[in-house]
Amino acid sequence: MYVNVAVLKETQPLERRVALVPSVVPKLIKLGAKLHMQCGAGDAIKLGDSAFEDVVFIADRKALVGDADVVLAVQPPSPDVIGELKEGAILISFVYAEKEKALVQRLLEKKITCFAMERVPRITRAQAMDALSSQSALAGYYAVQLGAIHLARILPKITTAAGAIGPAKVLVIGLGVAGLEAIATAHRLGAVVEGYDVRPETQEQALSLGAKFVETGVDARGEGGYARVLSAEEKAKVAEVLTAHIQQADLIITTAAIPGRPSPKLISKAQVAGMKAGAVIVDLSAEGGGNCEDTRPGETTEVGAVTIVAPLNVPSLLGQDASELYAKNQYNLLALMMKDNIVKIDWTDAVLAGTALTHDGKLCSGNPEPGSKPPPKSAKPHTTRPDVKAA
Ligand SMILES: NC(=O)c1ccc[n+]([C@@H]2O[C@H](COP(=O)([O-])OP(=O)(O)OC[C@H]3O[C@@H](n4cnc5c(N)ncnc54)[C@H](O)[C@@H]3O)[C@@H](O)[C@H]2O)c1
Repeated sequence: MYVNVAVLKETQPLERRVALVPSVVPKLIKLGAKLHMQCGAGDAIKLGDSAFEDVVFIADRKALVGDADVVLAVQPPSPDVIGELKEGAILISFVYAEKEKALVQRLLEKKITCFAMERVPRITRAQAMDALSSQSALAGYYAVQLGAIHLARILPKITTAAGAIGPAKVLVIGLGVAGLEAIATAHRLGAVVEGYDVRPETQEQALSLGAKFVETGVDARGEGGYARVLSAEEKAKVAEVLTAHIQQADLIITTAAIPGRPSPKLISKAQVAGMKAGAVIVDLSAEGGGNCEDTRPGETTEVGAVTIVAPLNVPSLLGQDASELYAKNQYNLLALMMKDNIVKIDWTDAVLAGTALTHDGKLCSGNPEPGSKPPPKSAKPHTTRPDVKAA
């Protein structure tokens, strides 16, 4: 007996990642998987079919998924794909249910057990499955690289016979996983770094990575360790303090997000107009509309003498590493439910119950199934960076 696992080739225009990489193949086989992939699934990151040993490649999607017990993907598959799955199969991918109503409807109709990667609980035990964090960390690193290549100046201090120049000033706004990685990267590259977030616990984290913290006196801790929306008065207070720091920065990286909401606007047109000539903003929140009023999602624009870079799907730009980490996140999730060549879902497991979106024709509440034992009380939120202190 074995578990039939199928890996889809991604079809969304900017998506280059793949849900399985060669290093994860032996691990899944050890759990009892028989692996199938759609032909060319790794092509976008230069992983040809021949790079995968012990995987059967199938060109026809319907033939690939029709027999699968478990289907792995990065982006939400189309409702048509779900129509091709056998009833009761398992799907593991990002889903973003609030934007994918037709997909969710199809998952319910086909009684698919769907684990949505964005729902992995942000608790200690689930860190190894937390794809939001693994992908955000890469995006935070890449934001600094993007900023550096758009700047007409260097980040570190360099001394030459003609004199010394630098270091550049970098301001990181929004100190979640991506923002902290951006701080660490900019600091490693020799820039003078400042960080700002509305969650006060990020102050200590920023300091421990070598940045100064911009203190605004506004505390906007929300539910579940996330930030809340600021009142108009709080926004004005923040803007007043931030303006001076924005004006001095050579590079600004913004990552601020509030779950389920458009990105908060933290840099106004007037603030952009007051920035240094040649300064660069890398807006990692472009997906949610951007943190700057002048951001045009998916584009790089010149606004006066300032360049605003607003890439979409940044982890995909680092597709090899992003796929490696994503595939490991999915493997770690599968390892909770696959043993001795079968799938057995323990609904008292807080990670599985929290990640499940649909099961047996019903939407999951995020809690273990009624009547089951409560999950162990190990749900202590913490930062994912091993080199910063837990909040
Ligand atoms: N396994 C875990 O325990 C775990 C893993 C990852 C993240 N987390 C926690 O989850 C939370 C969210 O992390 P994330 O990386 O997903 O963040 P996110 O992408 O939701 O948001 C990025 C940052 O933007 C900040 N922000 C929101 N509004 C802002 C504003 N108006 N001004 C300035 N900053 C603003 C948020 O506080 C957050 O730090 C954090 O508390 C993080 O430590 C826990």
